[in-house]
Amino acid sequence: MTALNTAAIRAQFPALRREENGTTVAWFDGPGGSQVPHSVIDSISAFLQRGGSNHGGAFAASRDSELAHETARAAVSDLFGTRHDDYVVFGMNMTSLNFALSRALSATWGPGDEVVVTRLDHDANVAPWLRAAADRGATVRWVPFDTTTYRLDLEKLADVVGPRTKVVAITHASNAIGTIVDVAAASRITHDAGAIIVVDAVHYAPHGLIDIAATNCDFLLASAYKFFGPHIGAMAGRSGLLEQLDAYKVRPSPATGPGKWETGTQSFEALTGVTAAVDHIASLAVEDNSRRNRLAAAYAAIQDHAIELGAQFLAGLPDSVTVFGISDDLTARTPTYAIELEGMSARRLATELADRAIYVTDGDYYAVEVMQALDRSEGGLVRIGFLHYTTEDEVDRLLEALHELA
Ligand SMILES: Cc1ncc(COP(=O)(O)O)c(C=O)c1O
Repeated sequence: MTALNTAAIRAQFPALRREENGTTVAWFDGPGGSQVPHSVIDSISAFLQRGGSNHGGAFAASRDSELAHETARAAVSDLFGTRHDDYVVFGMNMTSLNFALSRALSATWGPGDEVVVTRLDHDANVAPWLRAAADRGATVRWVPFDTTTYRLDLEKLADVVGPRTKVVAITHASNAIGTIVDVAAASRITHDAGAIIVVDAVHYAPHGLIDIAATNCDFLLASAYKFFGPHIGAMAGRSGLLEQLDAYKVRPSPATGPGKWETGTQSFEALTGVTAAVDHIASLAVEDNSRRNRLAAAYAAIQDHAIELGAQFLAGLPDSVTVFGISDDLTARTPTYAIELEGMSARRLATELADRAIYVTDGDYYAVEVMQALDRSEGGLVRIGFLHYTTEDEVDRLLEALHELA
């Protein structure tokens, strides 16, 4: 069975050697973006050094770019566990892809139609739907989360979906408080009402195995810079729907297939980095079988590591720190902890930690609705994220600093 060798993983990530004033940086800002291994850096650099060309040329360098594109699609298919007829589409980032999807999906909506969004989502899976509804005169329905258990209210989801629901936009996991959502259950509820479900897996992707086939969602979006890759977004979904929809595209670009959604020239070098990032995750597995199976084994080990660090972190916190998130079942959350230190603003705490070469995020991290529900819109919370390269020693360092500041 695979278990993580954190030291071996860390040796692959040059940024983890970064120092500030002679102290090695402890990176707890993974939910904002992960660092990348040598293999990702090398693949991007190798592509650029060999010379890249645009698609469609009669020469080898052009075919190299096409191959990089197809190879990345196959890698993301494995990462997402797509159905055989799903497409993988790349784009600038998740937000841009979701605006393109929401604009196309809403083209036929009108007054009386409904879209469902949640208070647990990052704004990248809320604002595109609010805008689409406003443009078409459609109605927005909200699903809250419980501010004491931090779980999303799926009963409320079942209440608000109905015959007029067109789309349910839902997160796989909260980038603010770490709650994992039962996407399979949400898909069943959505499909029973005859609607389409769009899942934001940006935060979930470095922490758990995405499984489009098993969860049966219609569309799913993620961003490679959160799972050890470069800055590029990916979306997968039912090819039948993607074919039917009217994408905003330039005339010469393909009328069918994923290319219809990929506006402008893609970052081929970043695509090589995406493949390397997926291969990096798969490489954590000791099992020697298909990439998808290795990814499953790797994520099981990543989750074990997350639970161990989470338990260490929660047990060691000073009393004056409040955790906003699930603490009774660490399998129901990612290792992303939103905290508050009594008497200290989030920015001040983040600055104090930064002075100790400990990087954390503060504010709302675009989880606008989460902060409003928690009554923390002003200043937000400090967010601490663990990834597979986070060590027990780093968590101890963080706890020591919190005790000192408490
Ligand atoms: C949960 C979640 N969704 C969406 C996004 C937006 O992703 P992108 O930066 O690729 O647009 C983020 C970014 O932080 C996120 O954490």
